[in-house]
Amino acid sequence: MSLTQLRENGASKPVRPVTAQTLLEMKQAGHAITALTAYDYPTARLVDQAGIDFILVGDSVGMAVLGYESTLPVTMDEMLHHTRAVARGVERAFLVADMPFGSYHSSAEEALRNATRFIKEAGAHAVKIEGGRRRADLVRQMTEAEISVVAHIGLTPQSIHRMSGYRVQGRSLEAIEGLYEDALALEAAGAVAIVLEGIPREVATEITARCVVPTIGIGAGPACDGQILVFHDLFNLTFSSPAKFVRRYADGAAFFRDALERYREDVTARTFPNDDESYHLSREVRTQLETSVEDNKDPLELLASLEPAGRA
Ligand code: KIV
Repeated sequence: MSLTQLRENGASKPVRPVTAQTLLEMKQAGHAITALTAYDYPTARLVDQAGIDFILVGDSVGMAVLGYESTLPVTMDEMLHHTRAVARGVERAFLVADMPFGSYHSSAEEALRNATRFIKEAGAHAVKIEGGRRRADLVRQMTEAEISVVAHIGLTPQSIHRMSGYRVQGRSLEAIEGLYEDALALEAAGAVAIVLEGIPREVATEITARCVVPTIGIGAGPACDGQILVFHDLFNLTFSSPAKFVRRYADGAAFFRDALERYREDVTARTFPNDDESYHLSREVRTQLETSVEDNKDPLELLASLEPAGRA
């Protein structure tokens, strides 16, 4: 039963928010963690009310919503703007904000200042940063500054140029060892969860077994403690061929196209708006107006002289 159904059935208990501790307990109990991105208020409400545990305001907003070709141009201002909107729509889920490229790379001071803004100004519960063991010190410093950090390893889209494209990572024994080291170093530094993106399922299975903290997979096979997808991928709203790991649950593009076509046709045919969708004068004022037309009085003057209440 979804949260919406629970609420509609009159469940009066306040919603218990998901925390980092909840995610850990879910892993320990073997309960799969559900995660999805959201970038604005209405979708955040829908995702939260559907009972999704973990909502990420991903820098994928750059490609899914803002029309950039990669996540690299996304700015702090854009991420803060979208995180604030999502935070207004979330009651229950654990809310994670992605730190954009360049916002945590120059110095620890700048990274901490930017991370703090997501928590303090935008209402996020945690930030996410990409990169393996070379980010461990930063994760430690953020954790010491009371900022929860979700790590992200494997195919890290902000490294697109260093990786020479979006390529599955961890295919050689050396690369696999590197991923194990990354995960354990980030966990030791205090990461509350680790996103595993674009790695072979066998490698993700082993990382998930070795880590105490939950792993959230995207293109990393079914053994991760949770799964995340990009909202627009799930609804076929990305206008490009999907990655192998995407499962489309609904054809949002077809749904919107159909509605848009019908709206355009109705306006063209002048069948929208109809009488029920229009405001009306009261019978009394209509009569006065008709009489004034018959008497050749200026109808605009008459309308101006009426109380607002007379204009239904
Ligand atoms: O930006 C994003 O949406 C992400 C997920 C794909 C994990 O980082």
